[in-house]
Amino acid sequence: MAKVNILSPDVIAKIAAGEAVDRPASVVKELLENAIDAKATSIEIHLKDAGKELIHIKDNGSGISRQDLEKIFQRHATSKISAIEDLEKLHSMGFRGEALYSIAAVSDVILRSQTSVIPAKAGIQNEAWEIHIRGGKRLGLTPAAASGNGTDIKIAELFFNTPARRKFLKNNTSELNQILNVVLPYTLIYPQKRFVLTHAGRTLLDLRPASSNIDRAAAALNARMDHFLEADQEFVEEKIRVKMVLGNINIQRPRRDSQFIFINDRPVESKNLNYNLNDVYKLILPPGVYGAFIVNIALDPANVDVNIHPTKREVRLKDEGRIISLLRRMTEYQLMHKGQAKQFSNPVILSEAKELKTSYDSSALKPQNDMSHDLPLDFQLFGEENTLRSKFTRARFVGSFLQKFLIYEVDESLLIVDQHAAQERIMFEKFKDQIEAAQVESQPLLTPLLLKLTPQEKIAWEELQEKLTTAGIETTQFDDDTIAVQTQPLLLKNIRAVVLDLLAGGEAPRMDHAALARRACKASITAGDKLDASQADHQRKQLLECKDPFTCPHGRPTLIEVTQNFLDRQFLRT
Ligand SMILES: Nc1ncnc2c1ncn2[C@@H]1O[C@H](COP(=O)(O)OP(=O)(O)OP(=O)(O)O)[C@@H](O)[C@H]1O
Ligand SMILES: [Mg+2]
Repeated sequence: MAKVNILSPDVIAKIAAGEAVDRPASVVKELLENAIDAKATSIEIHLKDAGKELIHIKDNGSGISRQDLEKIFQRHATSKISAIEDLEKLHSMGFRGEALYSIAAVSDVILRSQTSVIPAKAGIQNEAWEIHIRGGKRLGLTPAAASGNGTDIKIAELFFNTPARRKFLKNNTSELNQILNVVLPYTLIYPQKRFVLTHAGRTLLDLRPASSNIDRAAAALNARMDHFLEADQEFVEEKIRVKMVLGNINIQRPRRDSQFIFINDRPVESKNLNYNLNDVYKLILPPGVYGAFIVNIALDPANVDVNIHPTKREVRLKDEGRIISLLRRMTEYQLMHKGQAKQFSNPVILSEAKELKTSYDSSALKPQNDMSHDLPLDFQLFGEENTLRSKFTRARFVGSFLQKFLIYEVDESLLIVDQHAAQERIMFEKFKDQIEAAQVESQPLLTPLLLKLTPQEKIAWEELQEKLTTAGIETTQFDDDTIAVQTQPLLLKNIRAVVLDLLAGGEAPRMDHAALARRACKASITAGDKLDASQADHQRKQLLECKDPFTCPHGRPTLIEVTQNFLDRQFLRT
């Protein structure tokens, strides 16, 4: 029974058309959405060479009849809408009838499909068919052996006939990350479906049907179930229903890679919604880390316009301001009441510093280097580097403050060292030198440290494994999801944090020696010990041996000088 039709010219004219296929990830997105529209409960995606060589997707959905196979690779062929009004009640992902046409135009496609068993008609033996299209040309349509309902589609040699576009593709890490970013949201919104994603035979995702949203979120994002909370609220007047799974204070990611927003089950990118949700998370999270959230907003399809961009990633919402304020209130309530928010109370008091800055004209005391960070200007009393070096060489240790600052006196100044920043600078220079000389001192771990990786981290690890080795961190595959850390550089503590931080990089393949050392050293810094006079003196000497002693590798100062002059002014002596 045919159900695919070619849209009429007046409907075509109203649909946001354009190139929807620019890289493997966009092919995966289109095929995945087709499988979901076909009500598949199991979807497998297998890739070779990050999809450049092969994208193979198998689903157990409704399948495609022989008559429809004849049409689906034509432009504007769709079973999902027939009139433009259908967009107002759209519940499917697809509607343009563009995807297969555009994909087949630039690749070699073999699609095999089998429809639900219809009472066998005399003369028809097979309900499974295979069609082969290459560069938009049909090369064959043949009966295939029956092997279960659903569709099996192989996209090979992507962009074989458009070399310019092929050249535009990025390295495998980057393409794989984009594919993962396409797949992950669907795994979260359809917890009851099974998803498999493999690359070159290695499993990146293997998600069995989950019994709850939280269950799936934990499995897909590699987190603990008890670190999520779930809420479902209907706003009757506004005709909106919001379902959310929120990571609590225990989920703190270095990037916004665990944040997902959906409108009517469709993953969308919305800077506005994302900004506001992150803003609410600031109530419970320290600066510089990001929370996890999965927010699905169900509203009347008539109030959503998905037809503004060919990739459908952007949508226009009616009354967005109203939706945002509902969302903020609901998220805040959930995080504050259920999210263990009260465990965290570490207010940053900036007001005192600000006051100092405004009460006194400190223009004479401005720093020589032009650095932008949060310290009040008054305290960045850098002397000329040489004078500072000479002062620090002669400085006498006075004491340590809060296990965080080391105080020295010299001439008419106090020198205050940020113990951690200084330690980081010292480690960074040593470690970088060792990496550059290919002589990192490291020791085997008695028992290897097992680290379970998120799919993003797995991709990063594949690219970064060699670089980790040059940094003295040997890692091996333990099982599909886990790596074993075998060695640890002598200079670095906290090896677990170091490896995870390096894998969170994103820019892994481009990371040079300095970047590698900078990140590793930062993650290696642990909570401070109280240093006694001889330890403080040792640190002072080590810092003085550095090429660049007075800033940490991230550009913050390691040392500030407070002059007598400055103190006199604070006490209104001048
Ligand atoms: N995996 C699948 N299972 C069942 N039917 C499919 C599958 N993939 C495609 N089809 C059929 O092929 C038609 C064309 O697919 P195509 O992706 O090109 O267009 P669409 O999904 O209708 O719209 P869009 O271009 O917005 O994705 C679909 O409307 C659907 O009927
Ligand atoms: Mg489609």
